[in-house]
Amino acid sequence: MKVLLVNGGPHKDGCTNLALEEVAKTLEEQNIETEIFWLGVKPIGGCIGCNQCLKTNNRCFMDDKVNEFLDKVDEADGFVFGSPVHFAAAAGNMTSFLDRVFYGRGNLFQGKLYSSVVSCRRGGATAAFDQLNKYALISNMYIVGSSYWNQIHGNNKEEAKQDLEGMQTMRNLGKNMAYMLKCMELAKNQNIEKPEYEKPIKTNFIR
Ligand SMILES: Cc1cc2nc3c(=O)[nH]c(=O)nc-3n(C[C@H](O)[C@H](O)[C@H](O)COP(=O)(O)O)c2cc1C
Repeated sequence: MKVLLVNGGPHKDGCTNLALEEVAKTLEEQNIETEIFWLGVKPIGGCIGCNQCLKTNNRCFMDDKVNEFLDKVDEADGFVFGSPVHFAAAAGNMTSFLDRVFYGRGNLFQGKLYSSVVSCRRGGATAAFDQLNKYALISNMYIVGSSYWNQIHGNNKEEAKQDLEGMQTMRNLGKNMAYMLKCMELAKNQNIEKPEYEKPIKTNFIR
């Protein structure tokens, strides 16, 4: 069992990463493999809706972190997407990344676990958190929560470490995710099938 954690912030070793490391440490303690995937600081372009990726085995013509990440999706049973709060929303790079990762790709993610975490100095955490959770809720994924909304406060790593409730929230998230992964493994061994979905109906609100 493996969980991929994405640091969508510009700081490789900043507040978002600290939160993700705390989740990862808890998962590792329960023998679940983890990997933190950092988006880096190069700009990530937004989706231009060309639909080319849907015809080319999920490869985006912009060959960047999105393709690198998509190559890893199959090996993961769960995901944690982390972002700093920028103007009460997820960071721009993270939004572009997630738009392109999830566009038309529910089949790659369905039946897997999803969670998100946000870091901020002071405000906008729940707005960003809501934004990040939208990707799972349209992809037949199972969202894992914690003892508080998954947020940590601080303007740098040293400050964020002092947010003891935030750090605890991350550990509890790791515990919940580990439990859910084990339950899913058990269900698989007991031949409890994942849901089969109907052929999608798309009405575009015109009829
Ligand atoms: C462009 C920008 C916008 C920000 N907007 C907010 C904000 O709306 N609310 C807030 O509390 N902090 C805001 N911050 C502060 C960061 O969210 C905060 O320092 C965060 O924990 C940094 O995480 P990181 O170290 O992973 O980058 C902003 C920072 C930047 C660079």
